[in-house]
Amino acid sequence: MTEPHTIAVLGLGRMGEAIATRLTAQGRDVVGWTRSGRAPGAVQVTGDASGAVAKADLVLLALFDGPACRQVLDDVGDSLRADTIVLNTSTIAPAEAAGLARRLGPSYVHAAVLGSVPAVAAGTLGILAAADQDALERARPVLEALGTVRRVEDAPTAAALKLIANSSLAGAVLALRDSLRQADALGLPRDQVLDVLELGQLGGLVARKRPFLHGPSATATAEFTIGALAKDLALLAAASNTPLRSASGLADTPAAPEDDIAVAATAPAVEDAVLEPLRAYIRGHATGDPAHFHDAFLPTAHIEGIRDGAFVSWPLDEYCALFPGQPAPDEPTRSRRIDAVDVHGTVATATMTLRHGADTFTDVFLLVRVDAGWRIANKAYHRRAHPRPRGPRAVQSP
Ligand SMILES: NC(=O)c1ccc[n+]([C@@H]2O[C@H](COP(=O)([O-])OP(=O)(O)OC[C@H]3O[C@@H](n4cnc5c(N)ncnc54)[C@H](OP(=O)(O)O)[C@@H]3O)[C@@H](O)[C@H]2O)c1
Repeated sequence: MTEPHTIAVLGLGRMGEAIATRLTAQGRDVVGWTRSGRAPGAVQVTGDASGAVAKADLVLLALFDGPACRQVLDDVGDSLRADTIVLNTSTIAPAEAAGLARRLGPSYVHAAVLGSVPAVAAGTLGILAAADQDALERARPVLEALGTVRRVEDAPTAAALKLIANSSLAGAVLALRDSLRQADALGLPRDQVLDVLELGQLGGLVARKRPFLHGPSATATAEFTIGALAKDLALLAAASNTPLRSASGLADTPAAPEDDIAVAATAPAVEDAVLEPLRAYIRGHATGDPAHFHDAFLPTAHIEGIRDGAFVSWPLDEYCALFPGQPAPDEPTRSRRIDAVDVHGTVATATMTLRHGADTFTDVFLLVRVDAGWRIANKAYHRRAHPRPRGPRAVQSP
């Protein structure tokens, strides 16, 4: 096994800079290149990517996405020697990884990395490496300078596993967001909340990201951006062709793509205005007064669901006529809860759970923002009946 003597790092963003800095600090012969020409202090840089590649035993890619990898390889391809190892640490789609493996043949090492800038600096990345045995052994000294290598059967599998890891990271960020929103609604001090969350399941994330968890930070530098994680979730949803809730949860975050992912956990709860029609709807049920439904719904709204085995679609007036103008006799025992609201500009979806006596309703709403404010454009519901309690059954309304 020959250890690579000369390393060209292409892409000096957050990860590329940290990788080039660590390899340089370990005494390796490293030259870095990045599209923008930016020159991080501790790394020798060049503006001539092809020249750097021509001299390199190992070319390490730390680029934003698959198209960037293809673009850079197109540009330097003529300078790559047949035996030069191309070690790709970029997070890309499984199909893109398969394409690069086909294109570059046995000298390609796909090395998806788990961990961020501090893990690079400490040499504690988790590395999912897929390559021919010979190429992997040649790349191993460089990989082991950065972290712990776990061999994976092929490049698309390594890329897919990395996307799965990032979906769990996005889930954790969004779970943290839920906790912070609930804590804000209860008026709890943020520092006290973070102290307690550090003790729990999200403790590692909270401890690492604490500088960002009061909102965008003027002092802390983003280590992993919302834009990069949103890119990974979009790649995963496209590759799996299976809905991925966190993809829209993250993409709709009102924050800059260059902000650290932790800033997504600080996004405030949905604006009160979108809750207004849902609250009017709740008042309609609580009082039995249909005037509240006229406040809640657009006049064109339909209320739809399966009732006694048949599809019903009530226009709003017909629906309102079901309500007697006074609360149901068992109103004190009824409960209603808004479960989720997702706003996408001028439209939103919401779900609500209503427990009315022996029946539980799941209401699914489509809302729109019109001139007068947010209104429910349509509602569909599912009714789940529980075993009847003893005694007379209260009248149920959907
Ligand atoms: N940051 C993390 O914690 C982390 C962890 C694991 C994996 N990753 C993955 O590692 C890769 C790099 O992440 P990062 O955080 O370092 O991203 P970054 O800071 O945004 O850097 C991206 C790099 O890609 C270059 N680039 C982007 N588009 C390009 C194009 N079309 N042609 C040529 N170069 C292009 C940029 O060049 P210029 O800026 O010079 O224009 C920069 O060097 C991404 O795939 C990311 O998903 C990141």
